[in-house]
Amino acid sequence: MRVISSVTEMQSISMNLKRSDHSVGFVPTMGYLHEGHEQLLDAARANHDVVILSIFVNPLQFGAGEDLDHYPRDEARDRQIAKAHGVDYVFLPSERTMYPTPPILDIQVVRRTDALCGKSRPGHFAGVVTVLAKLFNICQPDGAYFGMKDAQQVAVVTGFVEDLNFPIEIVAVETVREADGLAKSSRNANLTKQERLEAPAIQQALKIGRDAFMNGETSVEAIKQKVKTFIEGETHGKIDYVELRSYPELEEIALIEDHVILAVAVQFKKARLIDNVVFDHTGTVVKG
Ligand code: PAJ
Repeated sequence: MRVISSVTEMQSISMNLKRSDHSVGFVPTMGYLHEGHEQLLDAARANHDVVILSIFVNPLQFGAGEDLDHYPRDEARDRQIAKAHGVDYVFLPSERTMYPTPPILDIQVVRRTDALCGKSRPGHFAGVVTVLAKLFNICQPDGAYFGMKDAQQVAVVTGFVEDLNFPIEIVAVETVREADGLAKSSRNANLTKQERLEAPAIQQALKIGRDAFMNGETSVEAIKQKVKTFIEGETHGKIDYVELRSYPELEEIALIEDHVILAVAVQFKKARLIDNVVFDHTGTVVKG
């Protein structure tokens, strides 16, 4: 496994890989790897000749007052995990390497972002697609792997790759959870003991919402309310949003007819947690 921090070096490696007909799987991350990331690495490893992992805490996707300064980091451990999962190249650039000069572009994402995290984190997805455009050009992957824990990110990145004709397949991978159902997240490290005990209520609430639909509740508002009530009763967190929208378009819906996403964000003291479930008109869980 090689660790690369230079853009030109990484780019020349990936261009050589392309020329020699190697298929490249790419897993972009912000590090502090956990089993969610590992699942993406394993999926990439299973499908490609070469796996590139990037680790870069992208300041562009953090808003003022968000947790950029508290974002957990552990490079040495990340390298070990990468090695154990058969990663060939870790691309680990510095902030100055990625953004040496102020950008002349200001990318805007105008669809799929007026709700969920796009609404409560203005500019977040612009930051995500900006860094991904750079990483895609640097690493030139055939497939890029993303987790459904961040389902809105999958929806935005899929649309972005289609819009700009990147020759890259976006592969969505199921959410990996702790034994008690809490979605694995680097941010779980910032929960207090008490909050960690309460946090599984988020996934339970999503289940309650989906169950209500399967038991005949057709009102989008009523389903959202059930989810809210449960989270409010079980946690000290502050609900940022509970949304039920079409997926992947993320438009408002009156009826659950096709694929929909039930998505939640809860703000705890030092960690904002998100989770979601995507299901179809029968209530069956689908990947996207
Ligand atoms: P990060 O939060 O590090 O996540 C990297 C990838 O891991 C994302 O695709 C995310 O959805 C996936 N992931 C996180 N937790 C997961 C879980 N419990 N199960 C399955 N997959 C999980 O998402 C980002 O970084 C950044 O926005 C990035 C795409 C790297 C751009 O900066």
